[in-house]
Amino acid sequence: MNPSESVPQEKPEEGRPFHLEGIALGRTFRVNGGSLQVLEGVRFRISTGEFVCILGRSGCGKTTLLKVVAGFLSPSSGRVLINGRDVRGPGSDRCVVFQEDALFPWLTVKENVTFGLRYRKKDGPRGLPDVDRLIESVGLARFKDYLPREISGGMKQRVALARVLVLHPEVLLMDEPFASLDSQTRREMQELLIALWEQTGHTVLFVTHDIEEALLLADRVLVMDKSPGRIREEIPVALPRPRKPETAEFLGLKRKLLETIGD
Ligand SMILES: Nc1ncnc2c1ncn2[C@@H]1O[C@H](COP(=O)(O)OP(=O)(O)OP(=O)(O)O)[C@@H](O)[C@H]1O
Ligand SMILES: [Mg+2]
Repeated sequence: MNPSESVPQEKPEEGRPFHLEGIALGRTFRVNGGSLQVLEGVRFRISTGEFVCILGRSGCGKTTLLKVVAGFLSPSSGRVLINGRDVRGPGSDRCVVFQEDALFPWLTVKENVTFGLRYRKKDGPRGLPDVDRLIESVGLARFKDYLPREISGGMKQRVALARVLVLHPEVLLMDEPFASLDSQTRREMQELLIALWEQTGHTVLFVTHDIEEALLLADRVLVMDKSPGRIREEIPVALPRPRKPETAEFLGLKRKLLETIGD
């Protein structure tokens, strides 16, 4: 069944469509002969250049939602729209960074970063990006000829970030990309991501189960419920960047999110 047939054809609002939109998204899986409803009625609207975090407990369906938005999984119901057009599969307008990014072990840092450009024409609409500058901007200039096994976990995630930024996707989808890093490295990566986002203006949908991470990064936090996964609440984060977790405003929002996610 065409997913767009299962819900009323809701039109984007007059004027400019939302950059990224989910309408009544549902997803079920067949498990042990039964059916598991993981997402139900998920709805979100994200404007161009917005940084939105999806916050939810383990198993609530965050990765499933991201895969549906990426086009790796089709929704069982509902629609995903980019600039008002239905997503029907993966596309070069979206790139995903996962928790453990599988770099090609036999390629150097620079070769990993440029891998996705192999079919990009030099004289195409965007030409070829300045890869060395990008590698420098993620702090890996000295390591560009190293192999993945010769660099740390944090450095690998820097490569993973450079590898998607080099493609200039319209939407960056991130699934707990810093979850396996120590807290210090994680903070550095969060700061780096925000700095790069401020320069490039990508639209970012970032999944995390960490309240502090969501508040450090997002313009808006969408809190997800479990069983079935849906957006329970939307919390705007109007704090100036760089954000400081020890300020009263930050702590106030943290308490609010703890209460929201806790019950
Ligand atoms: N391919 C699949 N087949 C069957 N069930 C699945 C599949 N993918 C996910 N699920 C189930 O969907 C639910 C949500 O999984 P998902 O990975 O989306 O959660 P999550 O919020 O990303 O969790 P975590 O925070 O641990 O990464 C889980 O119960 C999981 O077992
Ligand atoms: Mg997950």
